[in-house]
Amino acid sequence: MPAPLTATAIAHPNIALVKYWGKRDDVANLPATGSLSVTLDAMRTRTRVCFEPGLGADRVRLDGQEDAATSRRVSACLDLLRRRAGLAHGAVVESDNDFPTGAGLASSASGFAALVTAADAALGLGLPREELAQVARIGSGSAARSLFGGFALLRNQPDGGVAVGPLLAPEAWPLRVVIAITSALPKDVGSRDGMAASRATSPYYEAWLRSHGADLEAGVRHVQGRDFAALAAVAEHSCLKMHAVMLTTQPPLLYWLPATLACLQALQVLRRAGTPVFFTIDAGPQVKAICEPAAVPAVRAALAAVPGVTRVIDSGLGPGAYRANG
Ligand code: DP6
Repeated sequence: MPAPLTATAIAHPNIALVKYWGKRDDVANLPATGSLSVTLDAMRTRTRVCFEPGLGADRVRLDGQEDAATSRRVSACLDLLRRRAGLAHGAVVESDNDFPTGAGLASSASGFAALVTAADAALGLGLPREELAQVARIGSGSAARSLFGGFALLRNQPDGGVAVGPLLAPEAWPLRVVIAITSALPKDVGSRDGMAASRATSPYYEAWLRSHGADLEAGVRHVQGRDFAALAAVAEHSCLKMHAVMLTTQPPLLYWLPATLACLQALQVLRRAGTPVFFTIDAGPQVKAICEPAAVPAVRAALAAVPGVTRVIDSGLGPGAYRANG
């Protein structure tokens, strides 16, 4: 059967519990560190890819807007898949998020995961998720993890490559993620530029790399053992260590707002009073609180009461990227 040349896919953002920050190779977009994440179900990117004979260059629209830098990254991923399919057609790509783009909510992760899933279907390639993850990684390192549901793991390999795959299914440990939105504005410095600046200027960058492997292996162990308290400790440590690297970058990468810090303090108060919850923050001002389902009402209420929090989103753990109608 000939390839349909058009397909739609949906992918969900993921949140790293052990963080990725820094690259070994900028051109191949190889991460300097591994990472461990949870894929969410509450937010989604929907992407339609249509390969058209006679179209020379790709046309990419993200939430209705064209953006040259994003288009280049999209074309780099599509080129790899076109080569596999032996096809030269340009593609029309339309991608929509149901959440703020570029504001520390992992829109590039869900975006590139949806892109490669749709393009794979449109080209009739049927590649396994592990291979699609390697293509998505070229677009955005964190996107490789959104190919998988629940807990996903990206590990650097001794041969210089990267292995990405599932660690634990969502139903095996159905944690919740409560997200406090403190600003919907796009960030000033994106992850890509921020990582390059940290590597070049932060005196903590080498220490971050040196100590990261132990955090990742501890994170893997605690997810496999479903040890909430131990995972909380390693996840908060990895997050704050990454932000220490960001803060000591020149010029500094200060992604937090006053409400970001106030959320952390509200969660600390909750935890001291016996509610099992921990936080993580990415390259943006939003706070993600991870908790057991029974703790959601208390966590929601505590975050919603923080001045500067404009919206609270409660999410379960979601599936990996999948093909959709349309
Ligand atoms: C802070 O995956 O957005 O969210 O590979 O340059 O596209 P690129 O970076 P990206 O970086 C994510 C950084 C982070 C931490 C994480 O998700 O692990």
